[in-house]
Amino acid sequence: MSELKENYTFLAALYDVLMEDVDYESWADFIDEIIQTHHPEAVDLLEMACGTGSLSLSLGELECYNILASDKSVKMIEIARKKPKDFNSTVDFITLDFLDIDVDQSFDCIFTVFDSVNYLMNAEQIKKFLIGASKKLNGNGLLIFDFSTPKNSLESVDYLNENEGDNGRFRFFRKSAYDPKQKIHRNEFEIEEIDIKTGNILQTVQEIHEQRAYSLDQMLSIVEQTPYHLVAKYDGFDLIDANENSARVTMVLQC
Ligand SMILES: C[S@@+](CC[C@H](N)C(=O)[O-])C[C@H]1O[C@@H](n2cnc3c(N)ncnc32)[C@H](O)[C@@H]1O
Repeated sequence: MSELKENYTFLAALYDVLMEDVDYESWADFIDEIIQTHHPEAVDLLEMACGTGSLSLSLGELECYNILASDKSVKMIEIARKKPKDFNSTVDFITLDFLDIDVDQSFDCIFTVFDSVNYLMNAEQIKKFLIGASKKLNGNGLLIFDFSTPKNSLESVDYLNENEGDNGRFRFFRKSAYDPKQKIHRNEFEIEEIDIKTGNILQTVQEIHEQRAYSLDQMLSIVEQTPYHLVAKYDGFDLIDANENSARVTMVLQC
């Protein structure tokens, strides 16, 4: 039986392999479009749950924002810090938890993408995150976050299940399952560390990632219990209004 590790300790080294098909430049353009539409004066940005930092590094290339990018995982931030960044870019990285935004600064925009909020397992945790973020926003500041709905899990689970990949030093095997009753999407990763010279397996560990899918109605009712009002809700990666059929919704909130 392989040892169970905290999320993103071993997967961090493989994260960019897992995400190799994700177009972070276009995603950064989408976040920029939202900011320019709803708060064009914004300069100071905080990204939460930034992973290995790809989106903030792309956003930094626009050279119009001061960006602090954060994640709970120390390993993800270590990798983010080692990535090359644009000469004029001002992206800094720190570790920070959604549920304890312990940073001595306020921002014109706080954002988080790619279903990271789905790691928050209930309405109380989401409210805690939203209220914590509201205390770190400047006047007219925006909170932008996306979340994945049950539709997204139902559509993606077969594609994600039994999937594997490697970067030479680490190899992963993923099992993915979605429980439509509990609305829990579970990804079990078995990760092998390989001796590059001999090809022998040095160790095998396991990470179990559980995320909760939220419907648009559920998320709107959570937001109603916070100091925010809804500025916009977007479907996918366009400025198109989201609805109950959206697989991923990007919320734009203001206090
Ligand atoms: C699916 S990854 C997305 C990473 C990045 N946003 C991207 O687009 O590649 C989810 C991220 O959420 C982070 N995360 C999970 N729970 C967190 C929490 N409570 N506070 C901050 N980050 C968290 C994980 O460490 C991980 O990097």
